[in-house]
Amino acid sequence: MTTKAVAVLVVVAMAAAMAAEASKELSVDYYKKSCPGVENVVKYHVAKALKANRGDGAALVRLIFHDCFVRGCDASVLLDPTPENPETEKTAPINIGLAAFELIDEIKAAVEERCPGTVSCADIIIYAARDASSLLSNGHVHFDVLAGRLDGRVSRASDAQRDLPDSTFTVSELIRNFRRKNFTIEELVILSGAHAVGVGHCSSLRARLTAPPEQILPAYRSLLAGKCAVAPDPVVPNNVRDEDPAAVAATIPSFLPKLRKFEFLDNTYYHNNLARIVTFNSDWQLLTEKEARSKVHEYADNGTLWDEDFSASLVKLSQLPLPPKAKGEIRHHCRRVNAY
Ligand code: HEM
Ligand SMILES: *[C@@H]1O[C@H](CO)[C@@H](O)[C@H](O)[C@H]1NC(C)=O
Ligand SMILES: *[C@@H]1O[C@H](CO)[C@@H](O)[C@H](O)[C@H]1NC(C)=O
Repeated sequence: MTTKAVAVLVVVAMAAAMAAEASKELSVDYYKKSCPGVENVVKYHVAKALKANRGDGAALVRLIFHDCFVRGCDASVLLDPTPENPETEKTAPINIGLAAFELIDEIKAAVEERCPGTVSCADIIIYAARDASSLLSNGHVHFDVLAGRLDGRVSRASDAQRDLPDSTFTVSELIRNFRRKNFTIEELVILSGAHAVGVGHCSSLRARLTAPPEQILPAYRSLLAGKCAVAPDPVVPNNVRDEDPAAVAATIPSFLPKLRKFEFLDNTYYHNNLARIVTFNSDWQLLTEKEARSKVHEYADNGTLWDEDFSASLVKLSQLPLPPKAKGEIRHHCRRVNAY
């Protein structure tokens, strides 16, 4: 064998060793020995970010969904486009507005300093989304994170377009989309409650501006139309309770007492939904199917039940696996795969 051939073989063997097959068991104390305190490091950075901008919290809660529904929870959503792979997941239209990438970088850098090459970006997303949902709900949403995920090496915009639900979906399309990932109608309704926080672009709710009164409270439609007219594609709060007081006073004055100082992760989404005051077509569509509608009522009636069930559904979401035989690794930097 030539020296060159030997070198190639060594590189191939190293690559195989470094990119493990990603089907290990997850566990709560996965980093207990290899990176003690990692959860405190993540929480410190998430809390600091949310103190400056609660919107980062919503971004993290969306990030766990958009990562885990596409090739499992493998941080494939974090990979930046490169000349070799110019269309990674984050370039997909369905991922419009996805954020908190800098915050994840900051957390990863802090974790790498403490325990280099040990904690996956995939686990960091779950820890950070857990801490964000806990902080945004004053601790009402809480759960232990099972860790030990590996970061994927594949990220394709077309996978995101195929696997993530669109805001224009009908209820049957939503149910089918969740079913494909083994999520029930009940879980679809529970997880949609995340729209109690955060923002959406007007382009994501364009059809709502001309939807009939059975689908959207006309006063709210006017509010959205007014806000969407002032710039090419601005964002509006997902939860009417986070709207500008002036806009609400001008359109739905009866809602003024319900406005809140901070965005908060709670069951208000279900109250808004029953009042036909939600942003996306996919939100109101939940009222058009018998089981989904009864769940909307159930969670509107019992906020504690939603806190608990939302926590459990995030745990289930966080366990979506990589595709069979996919290779995983611990990335050094969350925006790019490791070089060999
Ligand atoms: C059921 C199907 C769903 C659809 C069709 C949907 C659609 C959307 C859309 C269109 C946006 C606004 C994007 C933009 O225009 O910038 C959005 C935002 C958001 N979504 Fe969903 N979503 C769904 C389910 C979920 C789930 C399961 C979660 C998390 C558990 C979630 C969490 C969020 C959050 C937190 C935001 C605000 C993000 C921010 O402010 O940065 N969504 N969603
Ligand atoms: C859904 O469940 C089936 C049957 O248990 C399993 O084969 C499949 O891999 C699961 N799909 C996902 C995305 O977890
Ligand atoms: C609401 O849900 C909680 C948690 O499951 C339960 O303990 C409580 O009894 C429920 N409250 C009502 C009024 O049904």
